[in-house]
Amino acid sequence: MSQRTLVLLKPDTVRRGLVGEVLRRYEAKGLTIVAMEHRAIDAEQADAHYAEHVEQPWYPPLRAFATSGPLVSLVLEGDEAIAVVRALNGATDGRAAAPGTIRGDLSLSNRENLVHASDSEESAAREIALWFPSLA
Ligand code: CDP
Ligand code: MG
Repeated sequence: MSQRTLVLLKPDTVRRGLVGEVLRRYEAKGLTIVAMEHRAIDAEQADAHYAEHVEQPWYPPLRAFATSGPLVSLVLEGDEAIAVVRALNGATDGRAAAPGTIRGDLSLSNRENLVHASDSEESAAREIALWFPSLA
């Protein structure tokens, strides 16, 4: 079943010059980029995106990170794209993520873990509407 999922290449990906490396992996898998934007976000956008986490003790430093510089937001499309992209990204903590995944190969952090991807059809619909209203 073809799906769309919302992906962020977080500010560490941009700072470290890894945008091309990460996009290469998604494209090599066969996913299609249907929208993409390089932008900085403010605290309000960070809070809306991470609404499920705003009460967590680790949310203030996550917000500071998410707003620390430009990021790349994109929508990927393909067969089972939501689960496929989560698998390519790997576990949340880069230190524990499996080798072969984006986080497992390229991140050593539980916060600065390079990428975000929607975790369900409901999240994908909400996040695509938030980041790319014209696609909703
Ligand atoms: O991104 P993912 O869905 O894998 O993980 P999450 O549990 O939904 O957490 C969202 C993001 O919060 C993570 O990707 C990390 O960047 C950050 N985080 C953090 O800063 N500290 C934690 N203890 C857990 C997550
Ligand atoms: Mg999540």
